[in-house]
Amino acid sequence: MSCFSCISSRRRKDGSRIEIDNGIRSSSRYSADSSGSGKRKAYYDEDGSGSRKGSRNGKNKIGSSQKGNAARSFTFRELATATRNFKEVNLIGEGGFGKVYKGRLETGEVVAIKQLNHDGLQGFQEFIVEVLMLSLLHHSNLVTLFGYCTDGDQRLLVYEFMPMGSLEDHLFDLDPGIAPLNWSTRMKVAVGAARGLEYLHCKANPPVIYRDLKSANILLDNYFNPKLSDFGLAKLGPVGDNTHVSTRVMGTYGYCAPEYAMSGKLTLKSDIYSFGVVLLELITGRKAIDCTKKPGEQNLIAWSRPYLKDRRKFSQLADPLLQGRFPVRCLHHAIAITAMCLQEQPNFRPLIGDIVVALEYLATQTGSPSKSRAHSPSSQSPHRRLDSRTSAISV
Ligand SMILES: Nc1ncnc2c1ncn2[C@@H]1O[C@H](COP(=O)(O)OP(=O)(O)OP(=O)(O)O)[C@@H](O)[C@H]1O
Ligand SMILES: [Mg+2]
Repeated sequence: MSCFSCISSRRRKDGSRIEIDNGIRSSSRYSADSSGSGKRKAYYDEDGSGSRKGSRNGKNKIGSSQKGNAARSFTFRELATATRNFKEVNLIGEGGFGKVYKGRLETGEVVAIKQLNHDGLQGFQEFIVEVLMLSLLHHSNLVTLFGYCTDGDQRLLVYEFMPMGSLEDHLFDLDPGIAPLNWSTRMKVAVGAARGLEYLHCKANPPVIYRDLKSANILLDNYFNPKLSDFGLAKLGPVGDNTHVSTRVMGTYGYCAPEYAMSGKLTLKSDIYSFGVVLLELITGRKAIDCTKKPGEQNLIAWSRPYLKDRRKFSQLADPLLQGRFPVRCLHHAIAITAMCLQEQPNFRPLIGDIVVALEYLATQTGSPSKSRAHSPSSQSPHRRLDSRTSAISV
């Protein structure tokens, strides 16, 4: 996207994470309450009823909204024990925030522990937003935060462990012997991710703009049920008559809506654009940005544009690894939904509720599974270092 003229790489080692300083700053950029809803206290249930559950009185609790589901405070010693002193063999991934370790708590629960690397203030602010957001937000398609650690200058986050890693791990650069996701699993992931986003946009009150939707942030359980993760960039709002939240442009290169990148005006439709990019990745098996591809193919949106415009070319978008094993009608519908999400004009993009309905329908129309090359739900992610299946917690 040509609009990223003043990108300063901020988080990922590969430089794909962006922070564009367009001069627009909200006074409380990382406040979970930066949308003008200053005095409101927000509580969010899975059903969106907003009824308050649980207690916020616990001494060590930053916030909680569900009984038995409150983020709790861990000591550094507890987490060091859980990860055997952050042993290399327990390392399961690394992002811009820091390293991610697999661990086992004293209770026997298997968890993923993310340790902030101390190379800037940004991560610290994202840490606070992450804890606040995940203390308020609870849905089966959102990852659960078990707790956090703030001993000294340590900042760690403790999540439910997602044994299949991220969607990214299963779409791109697959190791030989790793089965690609079949069509019905791709639709299942799309539906679940859409439901997670629907909860944020329609059931949370005030709504939450996720701002970091990408395949790396869609985590998968043993049955390929997806859960959205990483809420450190999320914003509350807009509320009332407002249609947008003004903010410094942040997100991940390749997923960011063009109007948001240009103006800093963040709306729910910015997330819909990012969702469209993820759908396109699911359909094509191509990364949003892939610098290993030849010029003209590195930016997925730019590359796909001629195909998205012409129904006769739709089938050429399908991931070759699918080997043609998908119902053609469903592929066409999925591409049509994707194209709508990727409209340049945010107003023309559909609402997430309508996307959920459409994708749910497609997920029931995926044809006989026997036709598809089976993607074993137990197959190992190529990037994972541990045998996660044996010790996976059930979610
Ligand atoms: N709860 C979890 N359970 C299992 N694995 C996880 C969990 N959270 C993260 N991971 C693994 O750690 C990797 C790094 O995740 P992380 O969120 O830190 O970075 P990222 O999303 O890839 O990039 P960035 O945060 O820089 O945008 C993921 O790709 C995933 O494989
Ligand atoms: Mg992530």
